[in-house]
Amino acid sequence: MRAATQTEYGTPDVLHVRSVERPTPGAREVLVEVHASAVTQGDRRLRAADFPGISAVFGRLLFGLFRPRHPVGGTMFSGRVVATGSEVTRFAVGDEVFGSVDRGAYAEYVAVAEDGPVARKPAGIDHAEAAAIPYGAGTALTFLRDLAEVRPGERVLIVGATGGVGRMAVQVAKHLGAHVTAVGSRDAELSRALGADEFIDHTAEDFTARDARWDVILDTTEGDHFRAFVGSLTDTGRYLSLYLTPRLLVQMAWSALRGGPRAMGGVALGSREGMEDLRALVEAGALRGVVAQRHPLSEVGAAHRALERGRLPGAVVVEMTRDRGVPRARPVPAGNTSFAVAGWF
Ligand SMILES: NC(=O)c1ccc[n+]([C@@H]2O[C@H](COP(=O)([O-])OP(=O)(O)OC[C@H]3O[C@@H](n4cnc5c(N)ncnc54)[C@H](OP(=O)(O)O)[C@@H]3O)[C@@H](O)[C@H]2O)c1
Repeated sequence: MRAATQTEYGTPDVLHVRSVERPTPGAREVLVEVHASAVTQGDRRLRAADFPGISAVFGRLLFGLFRPRHPVGGTMFSGRVVATGSEVTRFAVGDEVFGSVDRGAYAEYVAVAEDGPVARKPAGIDHAEAAAIPYGAGTALTFLRDLAEVRPGERVLIVGATGGVGRMAVQVAKHLGAHVTAVGSRDAELSRALGADEFIDHTAEDFTARDARWDVILDTTEGDHFRAFVGSLTDTGRYLSLYLTPRLLVQMAWSALRGGPRAMGGVALGSREGMEDLRALVEAGALRGVVAQRHPLSEVGAAHRALERGRLPGAVVVEMTRDRGVPRARPVPAGNTSFAVAGWF
């Protein structure tokens, strides 16, 4: 099969589309023919070994000390099940699914644990839109619903509302019944269309200078800003940072003990339940993936460069089926986990 591989950490130039062995699903895995994979800041960090905050210490230990342990990148996918392991009960050949994996989604096929972060693709959206959902929306759900326990009527402010996580956080906060303030420097109309009640341009105004308080501030920007933002939180306010630093860890412990506004942080890990929730939200019309650019797999490097330039009004997605002259793979019978047909170039 064709896959975007990297044998070293570095710029988008380290990504090369090559022919590699197709994964064989284990007993409790399904083999997914990938139609689309979203390119995310998480993918960029893994490509460049740019592990943020305290994860700089163990990032390379986890993902490869000198070079990536798993050469095929890509973490988000939407596609179709083409084979199932012998013990799989949740999915069948032909099911359209979306979800996330640790590595391996920039490929024509990826093996996915049936109990991992995967669910049936929401009806009525294409694979690129579906692939654009799990990264930001999964993170937003974990932080806003599970960690901060946002309640209807609360005021939520999202710093970086125009980014990959922020666009989804606006929608999730709105769905939870919050009054949503989006902070960014562009795409104000898109933010409003996604559910923001107001938009603050951070290049023109510092929201902390306002005589206003928020119940929750979700900060998607680099660094920890609890001290800078705490004056804008209510007495029971929660500051949520996507960026874990040693100082934030101390602030999390101290604010939990002391009472008053809390500092909170963590890492959002995908789950089966979380993916089922995202599917339900999309099908209920509460959430949508926003796609700004679609690239063929052969242009995965260009897709990463576009992500790095930033300021895009939506996700960058790689579509495996867009490369001209590449025959589509044929489906494989259920239970057949060791086949050799399908996919060549
Ligand atoms: N902890 C976790 O589990 C987790 C999960 C997912 C992502 N992350 C991390 O979260 C971070 C954000 O990811 P992302 O995909 O959303 O990144 P992104 O798409 O690059 O978005 C970042 C946003 O930050 C905004 N921004 C930059 N400076 C700002 C400022 N001074 N004030 C307000 N907004 C500012 C930008 O908005 P404008 O362009 O409009 O200025 C941009 O849209 C990354 O570091 C990523 O690694 C962590």
